[in-house]
Amino acid sequence: MTILDGKATSKAIREEIAVEVGKLKASGKKVPHLAAVIVGSDGASQTYVNAKVKDCRDVGFESTHIELPEETSEEDVLKQIEALNNDPEIDGYIVQLPLPKHIDEQRVLLAIDPAKDVDGFHPASVGKMVLGLDTFISATPWGIMELLKRYNVPTSGKNCVVIGRSNIVGRPMSILLSMPTEPGNCTVTLAHSRTKNLVELCYNADIVVAALGRPEFVTANMIKEGATVIDVGITRVKDETKKSGFALKGDVKFDEVAPKCAFITPVPGGVGPMTRAALMRNTLKAIDFKD
Ligand code: GUN
Repeated sequence: MTILDGKATSKAIREEIAVEVGKLKASGKKVPHLAAVIVGSDGASQTYVNAKVKDCRDVGFESTHIELPEETSEEDVLKQIEALNNDPEIDGYIVQLPLPKHIDEQRVLLAIDPAKDVDGFHPASVGKMVLGLDTFISATPWGIMELLKRYNVPTSGKNCVVIGRSNIVGRPMSILLSMPTEPGNCTVTLAHSRTKNLVELCYNADIVVAALGRPEFVTANMIKEGATVIDVGITRVKDETKKSGFALKGDVKFDEVAPKCAFITPVPGGVGPMTRAALMRNTLKAIDFKD
């Protein structure tokens, strides 16, 4: 059984990006500049954005952290986006989700200039991804594909079940795994809350990607010997034995599933760090990306 170490792999990716930034600096070019917009004071979002800003510092990027109060109107958020679209200093930016309820998420995502859409959430980016064209691929699916690539996990002709059909993970994951690429070339089943015979489907799969957000949902009886299991879940679960009062749980019951696997990602230290590295990679790409 091989652990797909996202922490070590993401460190390697950050180091590769830092080398590229060094080359840009040496040739007198501008270094990539990422902006992150956060509306409101959601604790988890603050943590994610702070981590993204720290990653920028580590690889040598410029970063701008824009915090807007919870009560900011949709029009004012759209004005901020317009300003970022028109700012030549900013190569790429993200609007941290979720947004407060009074703001229409789709309207905001549509307003982002696709050439600066380093989250890959704009319909133009998603459409290009579906067609196999060069674009920004959203962070978690890109991170998973990169992990499969760097560990030479066999995917061609494999049966793959993706559990969860979210726009930012499950659905793009199902598309990327079915692409005529390496990794890729899988026969993909996209399972969701209405799926019947999920246990049987998973048990027949060579690769299971769990992205439903239910802690320890995938158990040993669902996984065949020699399978590859990718755990996208990361849920805070109360744990009195921890100083913080909570533990991070994946969607997979790791201790009982891991011994059956050829490859498996841990939580934490698997998909999560890869997601962060993907944003840095997209921001580097943004300096010469024109749509
Ligand atoms: N909220 C949870 N994950 C993400 C992400 O990858 N990007 C943004 N913008 N918001 C998120």
